[in-house]
Amino acid sequence: ATRVLTGITTSGTPHLGNYAGAIRPAVAASRRPGVESFYFLADYHALIKTADPARVQRSTLEIAASWLACGLDPDKVWFYRQSDIPEIPELTWLLTCVAGKGILNRAHAYKAAVDRNRELGEDDDAGVTAGLFMYPVLMAADILMFKAHSVPVGRDQIQHIEMARDFGARFNHLYGEHFVLPEAAIEENVATLPGLDGRKMSKSYDNTIPLFAPRDELRKLVFSILTDSRMPGEPKSTEGSALFQLYQAFATPAQASEFAAAFAAGIGWGEAKQALFELLDAELAPLREKYEALMARPDHIEAVLRAGAEKARAIATPLMLELRRAVGLRDLR
Ligand code: TYM
Repeated sequence: ATRVLTGITTSGTPHLGNYAGAIRPAVAASRRPGVESFYFLADYHALIKTADPARVQRSTLEIAASWLACGLDPDKVWFYRQSDIPEIPELTWLLTCVAGKGILNRAHAYKAAVDRNRELGEDDDAGVTAGLFMYPVLMAADILMFKAHSVPVGRDQIQHIEMARDFGARFNHLYGEHFVLPEAAIEENVATLPGLDGRKMSKSYDNTIPLFAPRDELRKLVFSILTDSRMPGEPKSTEGSALFQLYQAFATPAQASEFAAAFAAGIGWGEAKQALFELLDAELAPLREKYEALMARPDHIEAVLRAGAEKARAIATPLMLELRRAVGLRDLR
């Protein structure tokens, strides 16, 4: 079987980018025959981004409910919370000891922090935690632990998958073939969903459309998407239009080319926004109902996650024993 694995960081409310870039393709993949799916809540990763415990807990619940509302069947897949698997931080250390520091220096998130500091005239590493620096190693442990072949992610995560390959290959070279080297799987149309301001939709830019915003709020947010000042009747460009890209991520190819034709014919922005809102709401409304029902049953979600952790540890525990032996640590068996 092909193993597919992906995770979402539990530091905020899930948004349309997480849905189109991760949840939707992952749920579809989990239904294909011959696929074993591993989907998890990256709560250790969340600690790199926030020191607000209530936010981590809330986000964990919201993201778990989102996966389930979007049709993930926890009996058919491995669905778990990262911090329920103590073997993951243990593997992180083994990988830390083979990870090139120079490779980590080139990680986008770390480099962005350094660049910001330089602009501000601060020391390169001012305010940068070792957690942020080590982020790709923890992520490599997530992936390598379950011998994933394919990791469906947005374009922003490709570099991290390449690093996981690099660390896995280095470990295999030193200690024998223990790991499968993963590949990133990118859905071309939805590679990076833009947010309200046209930049990548991201919790850090505060430009997100929450996946399960109530209907009124969804409409309000769609109407706040940044557009140019062209009047109705003036032809509009789909190139670089956040509105068009969002539409395309939810439309059939035929609907998308019709929408492109309407842009060329000078559709007014108000009308275009209404069309996007209706398209989004048609897909999301039935899922939103399930989401709300799940959010009212946190005990049920907790039970699902605990069962998932047991299933995941049935794989992680024996692999960790094997790895401990391979590197010369005490055989715990
Ligand atoms: P995170 O939580 O930032 O994002 C979760 C997933 O959503 C995708 N995504 C997007 N896709 C399209 N357009 C966007 N605007 C957009 N914003 C986010 C991301 O690409 C990702 O697939 N480090 C990861 C979590 C993680 C992980 C892993 C993923 C931890 N361990 C192992 C895969 C495998 C992260 O912070 O994703």
